[in-house]
Amino acid sequence: MKKSKLRKKGWLLGYSDFTEYSKNRRDEDSLDLEIYVKGLGLKSLHQGLWQKGQPVTLDELPKAQKNYTMKLIDMFPEEVETVLDVGAGVGDNAIYMADKGMKVTCISPSPSQENYFAENILPEYENVSFIRCKYEDLEINEKFDVVLLSESSNYFPIENGLGQTIRYLKRGGYLVMGSHFRKDSRRDFKEMHVHESYLDSAKKRGLILVEDIDVTSQVIQTMELYHNIYKYIPPITEVLIDFYKKSFRKKYWIISKIVSAFFNQEFEMAKEMLFEVGPRRTDPKLFLEYLTYRFIAFKKGMDSQ
Ligand SMILES: C[S@@+](CC[C@H](N)C(=O)[O-])C[C@H]1O[C@@H](n2cnc3c(N)ncnc32)[C@H](O)[C@@H]1O
Repeated sequence: MKKSKLRKKGWLLGYSDFTEYSKNRRDEDSLDLEIYVKGLGLKSLHQGLWQKGQPVTLDELPKAQKNYTMKLIDMFPEEVETVLDVGAGVGDNAIYMADKGMKVTCISPSPSQENYFAENILPEYENVSFIRCKYEDLEINEKFDVVLLSESSNYFPIENGLGQTIRYLKRGGYLVMGSHFRKDSRRDFKEMHVHESYLDSAKKRGLILVEDIDVTSQVIQTMELYHNIYKYIPPITEVLIDFYKKSFRKKYWIISKIVSAFFNQEFEMAKEMLFEVGPRRTDPKLFLEYLTYRFIAFKKGMDSQ
């Protein structure tokens, strides 16, 4: 799909609705693992949960992420044995749960995450398995004590996510989630669910709200951190492009033309991600204006549907 069409649909800046967003997204489009794990050396894809007084630096982010994982998983009731970890990322939550003796079924549509699990997690953890697919398309014959949506609920429409969750939860099981939500239905950040709509839909489907904790003030530090990093990307990229134009392109103009012809769209998208989407999506002021970050637990009631 051409960039102009993407821009018109607005998914790069999150102006489109979910149906459009997920329809146009290819599984291999996700660069999360490459940026955060290979690029920044992290072992988690979620925002982390900062403690009071903790210095806000990149070196401290893994500690905040560990804290997030612990706090979120510790919301589970004691007796949990089986978990469906939806959008399992690079398995930091799964490892924590597996170390506690739970049997964890991880799913994600990302081929690079599938490889990461195969190389780093599955050989060591017998009680962890991985299925590569979208949650909306999952077809298995199993039910779980907990469905975990750790920063993955915004990747599919509310109804699809809740429908699948009710289908895969045992009676009396729990949906536990950590996620950004929009505070209201304003247009910006439209790729995220509206908090109230999510709670309403869950209630209508018979999920009973057990906890809804606002942790925005412990997540916002990650935005500050990433926003500061994004600040340096445009000037550094400009310098590199300038260098490339002066040296490589002059010397090897035929190769340069071929590369541009094949990868122009990818370059444009990368530029847009780095120069526009990233800085805007990590802007702490916009975050606080439009979003709220929640840790939520629901229990599947008798009449869930
Ligand atoms: C922000 S990451 C969170 C990863 C992990 N749960 C964590 O807490 O670090 C979002 C995850 O959702 C996955 N995802 C994206 N679309 C999905 C879909 N349609 N169904 C299931 N998972 C999806 C991504 O591949 C990624 O693993």
